[in-house]
Amino acid sequence: MRFRILFLILSLGALASAFARQNTPKTPTLAKAFERDFLIGAALGGQTLLGEDAISAPVLGHFNAFTAENAMKPDATQPQEGVFRFEQADKLVEIARKQNATVVGHTLIWHSQTPRWFFEGPDNKPATRELALQRMRTRIATLVGRYKGRIAQWDVVNEAISDGGDDMLRQSPWRTAIGDDYIAEAFRAAHAADPKATLIYNDYSIENPGKREKTLKLLKSLRDQNVPVHAVGIQGHWGLDYPDLATIESALTDFGKLGLKVMITELDVSVLPTRYRGADVGVRQERDAAMDPYVAGLPEAVARQQAERYRAIFALLRRHRDVVDRVTFWGVHDGQSWKNNFPIRGRTDYPLLFDRQGKPKPAFFELNALPAAARQQPAANTQ
Ligand code: G3I
Repeated sequence: MRFRILFLILSLGALASAFARQNTPKTPTLAKAFERDFLIGAALGGQTLLGEDAISAPVLGHFNAFTAENAMKPDATQPQEGVFRFEQADKLVEIARKQNATVVGHTLIWHSQTPRWFFEGPDNKPATRELALQRMRTRIATLVGRYKGRIAQWDVVNEAISDGGDDMLRQSPWRTAIGDDYIAEAFRAAHAADPKATLIYNDYSIENPGKREKTLKLLKSLRDQNVPVHAVGIQGHWGLDYPDLATIESALTDFGKLGLKVMITELDVSVLPTRYRGADVGVRQERDAAMDPYVAGLPEAVARQQAERYRAIFALLRRHRDVVDRVTFWGVHDGQSWKNNFPIRGRTDYPLLFDRQGKPKPAFFELNALPAAARQQPAANTQ
């Protein structure tokens, strides 16, 4: 008898909790919320790849694309000539495979985080064009070849456009060693190693008119030479009040007109004051208390302002979903964002959708509800 009562109580309990589950409004994953629009990605840092970031792990299911924040860069994969390291890169590919997510390779050719040996010849002389080209091709063939069929998209050349002045190209050591055609050669090598991969030119601040013009010029010239470039990556290291939406929109339109897909490759929305709006890793500024106002926590009003800013950005990106293929956040939670150390070291920023405990912020809920809300509105041209 006692067992029957216990059984009855347990069954009723199970029923009640199933009922409660059914009636709890479900928050879909971000990837699911935007599945009709574009991929939703995140960059994973070293700690996450090593399994040492208990805060990111539970929320990775929100993303259906992953980029290595540092693990596939030249210094991580090729510390010395002839030595390749893929432990962390392999982990990223494995994490993505387990949840059927797209992998983005970042980055093949960049001026930063690239060991000096790439550019040194015998007797400490600068490497000749031939030697530097051969090293570039070896790097690209080895990485793209290793992950052929598993890495669908590559940031082939990163940040090659100059920020100011009349020069179109940055004085990258690759450019010094090889010449201006290092960009075309890099894309050709990547395409030869995996003809099915989507190849991206990736840069920051290229939504802004001056740098955008230069980027359009570069991309047109590559297209005219039949160089295989398929997409442009607008990094998207943005703030609460910059860039304005009209600037982003005209950039999407301009790049789209070239027949290129656009990826937002490194999105974050800093809430801190700044005197520098770019993402040149060489820039450093001094810290003072006025520049670091939220050490004790993010005020609710600022969190709401950030949520509204994210909503406006995503509403715009959704309107251009014919051009935009992927939106990737540069990190998972505020605690491990690079923005805590850029352009001023040691600040407390809050640029992402999950807080330092891994809890979703107002910006997360705003984005999560956006596609469903938009679908409930009548289409613009119907009565
Ligand atoms: O590898 C060392 C490690 O050995 C050491 O223990 C540790 C101590 O600080 O530093 C490690 O290196 C750091 C590296 O990240 C890996 O954590 C560097 O100091 C740090 O400068 C480096 O920062 C990265 C930055 O690129 C470097 O260029 C950021 O995490 C990464 O988010 C950032 O990402 C770039 C994109 O690749 C391109 N676009 C701009 C974006 C932001 O700068």
